[in-house]
Amino acid sequence: MRFDTSSRSEPRSAAGILVRLLTQPTALALVIVLALLSSLPSNASALQLTAAVVDSAVLLGTVLWWDVLGLPAQVRRVTRRLGLAHRHPSGRIQSLRCRGVHRIGRRHTRLTWRLPPGVTLRDILAQQDAIEQAMDGEIVCWMEHGHLVMEVLRERIPDHVDFAAFYEQPPPPGKLVIGLGRSHRGPLWTDLGSLPHLLVGGMTGGGKSVFLTQALTHLVLTHNPDQLRLLCIDLKGGIELALFATTPHSLGEVVTTVEGAAAALESIREEVDRRLQSLRNAGMRDIDAWADVGRPPWRRIVVVVDELAELTVRELGGNPSALAAQKVARGRLGEVARLGRAVGIHLVVCTQRPDAEAVPGQLKANLAGTVAFRVRAQVNSLILLENDRAALLPHRPGRAIWAHERLEEFQAIHVAADEAERLIASRVAEPQAEGAGLVTPPLQNTSGNSESINRIGISGAATQATLSPGEVAR
Ligand SMILES: Nc1ncnc2c1ncn2[C@@H]1O[C@H](COP(=O)(O)OP(=O)(O)OP(=O)(O)O)[C@@H](O)[C@H]1O
Ligand SMILES: [Mg+2]
Repeated sequence: MRFDTSSRSEPRSAAGILVRLLTQPTALALVIVLALLSSLPSNASALQLTAAVVDSAVLLGTVLWWDVLGLPAQVRRVTRRLGLAHRHPSGRIQSLRCRGVHRIGRRHTRLTWRLPPGVTLRDILAQQDAIEQAMDGEIVCWMEHGHLVMEVLRERIPDHVDFAAFYEQPPPPGKLVIGLGRSHRGPLWTDLGSLPHLLVGGMTGGGKSVFLTQALTHLVLTHNPDQLRLLCIDLKGGIELALFATTPHSLGEVVTTVEGAAAALESIREEVDRRLQSLRNAGMRDIDAWADVGRPPWRRIVVVVDELAELTVRELGGNPSALAAQKVARGRLGEVARLGRAVGIHLVVCTQRPDAEAVPGQLKANLAGTVAFRVRAQVNSLILLENDRAALLPHRPGRAIWAHERLEEFQAIHVAADEAERLIASRVAEPQAEGAGLVTPPLQNTSGNSESINRIGISGAATQATLSPGEVAR
């Protein structure tokens, strides 16, 4: 079982905080130093003062070094106990040998190890859960120049990450940056612009809709409609995404039917083709190269689909038109996932059912980033992450694993529905004079190899999509 480092309750009272402080070696040393300095008489001689300062420096230095050097000893002990060592025929046991300690942050250390004969990175990774449990933190391991590099992260993952507090900090650079939450390393961000597509999976109540709401709210707050367009396909009949249909960023009302989804995705596919053709004509590689030479930049389009299984495996009771629409939608979704990167069209696909049927391998291969909330069974976790970590997550809404270049557990950003509504309403009402007005900008000239999609005419509540080339290009 995975050890939930966050399940220990934080001391809330002053006495609890004091006890916690006094059990931290560095804090304890600081208290001793302060006591030492304050015990000096007011008329202390220069010699007494110097002696006190030297004592303090030695004590603090020792504690800091002990804090750092104690860690390799602990890792050695733990790995040895787990059998990650080499036993010589003579009976001597050779364990990991520390080759470097690099302190990256207060609770973040990078250790370099020489592995004993016969012990591989795979062996270490196979015991990762047990090591993390014993170390009371998260470890990230990889091989570099023949050595094992192990990052030990002991920052606690918070139980709650507030939307406003998270987005107060400056985001990293990127085209379509969204926050994910806080991990052992601290704030976790990703750039949809470079991902370019995202899969969000997990069982009911895990936090998928809240995650979508916070990410879309942030995108709407930080981009104008001439930079970003949204298309929301909500096949679960939920109301969470309706909020975004009220923004001028929206390409239409929320699509709620399979037929509507097929038509909308067909339009998106046509837009992909138009943009690809424009790129080909201009001899450009992608949307960034297009903008770099001073052409009017294309709006990025984010297409959100909740729930993917409705398009991939839902039994539609033999209704031939729905079945045909489902097939079209599935096909177009796969094509957009394959071709969208170059033309700035991004998918965010959610599913409660991460299994091989609901998330076809071909589509999964093109969804480079995965947010995996808790899943019921190991097999669902395997589909999302290729390991069982999402099945071992604590039962806490918003707790998830981020899988991109590596795996990282985090607590997702939380935004309440009414807060998101308030933020969006205030943004939409912003005066245009300030340059951030949210009135839908006029359509660009399509003959100039520009984009033509502006609004998809979906009769939202109805079952049919009423698309026509005129409406798409309006
Ligand atoms: N990041 C979070 N932090 C704290 N609480 C959260 C977080 N995300 C979700 N929750 C809580 O969990 C509840 C369910 O979340 P949400 O509706 O997003 O689940 P879901 O995965 O979309 O479920 P379903 O598959 O049934 O649609 C929310 O109402 C909220 O109370
Ligand atoms: Mg939901």
